[in-house]
Amino acid sequence: MSIGEALPRPDGRIKVTGQAKYTADQRLDGALFVVLVGSPVPAGTIRQIDTHEAESVPGVVRVLTVDDMPRFANVTAPSAITLLPMQDTTIRHHGQAIAIVAAERLEQAEQAARLVRADIEVSPFVAQSEGAAVIATENLYAPAEFSKGDIARGSSSAAHRHEADYLQPSRHHNPMEPSAVQAVWDGDELTIFDTTQHGYNVQAVLSSAFGIRPEQVRVICHHTGGGFGCKGFVWPHELLAAAAARVLQRPIKLVLSRAQMYSMVGYQPDMRHHMLLGADADGRLSALSHDVENVTSIAEQFVEHATSASQGVYASPAIQTKQKVRHANVNHPTAMRAPWEGPGLWGLDSAIDEMAHLVGMDPLDFRLANYAETDPATGKPWSSKKLREAYAEGARLFGWYDRPREPVRDGPWLLGSGMATSSMGCFRFPSVARVRLNASGRATIETGCHDIGTGTLTIFPQIAADVLGLSLDQVSLSMGDTALPKGGPTYGSSSTMGVGASVLYAARSVRAQLAELAGVPDSQAELADGRIRRSGSDERGQSIVELMRQAGRAELRADGEFSLPGGAPFNANGEGSDVAISTFGAIFVEVAVDPELGLLRLRRAVGSYSAGRIINPRTARAQMIGGIIWGWGMAAMEGTHHEPTLGRWLSRDLAGVAVPVNADIPSDIQIHFVDEFDAHASPLGAKGIGELGATGVAAAVANAVFAATGKRVRSLPITPAKLVMEGASNA
Ligand code: MOS
Repeated sequence: MSIGEALPRPDGRIKVTGQAKYTADQRLDGALFVVLVGSPVPAGTIRQIDTHEAESVPGVVRVLTVDDMPRFANVTAPSAITLLPMQDTTIRHHGQAIAIVAAERLEQAEQAARLVRADIEVSPFVAQSEGAAVIATENLYAPAEFSKGDIARGSSSAAHRHEADYLQPSRHHNPMEPSAVQAVWDGDELTIFDTTQHGYNVQAVLSSAFGIRPEQVRVICHHTGGGFGCKGFVWPHELLAAAAARVLQRPIKLVLSRAQMYSMVGYQPDMRHHMLLGADADGRLSALSHDVENVTSIAEQFVEHATSASQGVYASPAIQTKQKVRHANVNHPTAMRAPWEGPGLWGLDSAIDEMAHLVGMDPLDFRLANYAETDPATGKPWSSKKLREAYAEGARLFGWYDRPREPVRDGPWLLGSGMATSSMGCFRFPSVARVRLNASGRATIETGCHDIGTGTLTIFPQIAADVLGLSLDQVSLSMGDTALPKGGPTYGSSSTMGVGASVLYAARSVRAQLAELAGVPDSQAELADGRIRRSGSDERGQSIVELMRQAGRAELRADGEFSLPGGAPFNANGEGSDVAISTFGAIFVEVAVDPELGLLRLRRAVGSYSAGRIINPRTARAQMIGGIIWGWGMAAMEGTHHEPTLGRWLSRDLAGVAVPVNADIPSDIQIHFVDEFDAHASPLGAKGIGELGATGVAAAVANAVFAATGKRVRSLPITPAKLVMEGASNA
């Protein structure tokens, strides 16, 4: 039995020794190096681009401008940005690509890029904070407005009322591997190595943009060096790179610089959560209102559905939510690890904590008093939910009810504890996988998915090994290539359910073929150690290698398909079925604050989750710890400042934008999973966990800061300036 075993990652060694080949590591014969030139201003019109000086640099082959580019047809949202640069002369944000330099060597292209002279008629621009908020109307994954019950009555008649704004800044994904493309055309056939979380999305967008069939575009991405969402969309550089290869009639290689990762791919948008809560004297919510506004690019809408948290976590007779956007001259935002509930729970669980204090209840007791027995928005029963157990075990591991109720001093530090609910909805996508069992008893899984670091390379072989009675080293996974069966995307915490289920189905079909060869009814076949026998019998069974040899079969193969109701391309939270699907948990943190210097430190954390069946406890635990670290970054460190007078990101590197490093994270992080099987979410019983751990953390930290200092910080990140307390003394 290998599902449920804490198996190590088979790809660990090649990744830490540098043998894993990422996009930029591929070598295409005769490739030109391509560098994009970004706009120096946030808004304007290009009058002319002087490429003369740039083209005189030795080795430079050509500088492409809007005049040289093919016109792209049919680029459709929501999987890609639709207003592409270099299709007209309009500049919509700082850093937008305005020219492409191609040279024999990278150094030549970089030098020439600095010599491209753009004559731009500069226009007034809308800074990130200046756009007017309007109800979102485009690219919606859920209605922009939701209402249930009577909010006005629920809040005006409430014994307790809390209303506040909670802010969070734009944040960039900062994956270790910057986005890169290598592209080569052969007639109308394009092969593209691309840094992506979903090769088939790149295939669909590029084929429609170039007016060719999807089969004429092959997208290869064997390893993805982190993504966190910024490699899920198709961004302009991918289309521009493919276009450059076509115009130049040469293979090309493009690697975005770290600075370009700030303006040429997406980021999580700056958000404001307006919360209004009403509660009765016993601490039961009577009203819950949550308005979100997020910044978006000047002419397209990206909607961060953060109000989903307030529709799905706590019981309230009246719930009202609104999604608004603020257009500005910024590059287009996108989903970032733990979209929707991740930002939403910052607003919601901060406000819930404030209300618990107003009512005079323990914050966990207050959450239990408002426990949602059914889905708050739809009233549907949950597919499975063991949040009560998760709360209880988390509280026990943390010592929540034994915590000091007053701040404790430790030298210069004030210690405080806080908690929050974690929750993530359930995104599912269709997926196909193929399993082949060869004559030597080794299996290969083929599905064009990716591993962005979450452990899919471990758990998909683990699932097939489990079904076929093989060891993990007898199963390999071929992935990251659109020439393979169409696996689901590697985002939305969806792969275990979608791709995992397709692997399960394919492996079961191969198992059925083996059972037939063995003359054993499929339902009674037991496979272990490379042998098949009738379950319950005491015979040793037959070797599957021998069985295939006798039958003259060099290979057994089968495809497995995970599909959604009605053949839908996407399903959120079990929509269209009679259950609501979601994941839950609780995060408890102890922080230390130095009130004189304003320093904030994480001392310890406990995360306890109700998230369906856990396929691999080791990779799952790593996901949750990673999520908590991600949440700490959101809480205490991260924010990309958009400078309102220059209209651009102020810092565009990892020195000017803080992210957590090892020294910021204590070793004392405990993870617990409640034993659970969710048959509705997937036939594996598993749900998604990749993003759940990141949710709730920022609120838990702010709630702990309040416990330590009595200060409510309602804007992220919680930096020293917000914590320095006047008159504080360590004496
Ligand atoms: Mo994640 S934001 O769904 O890659």
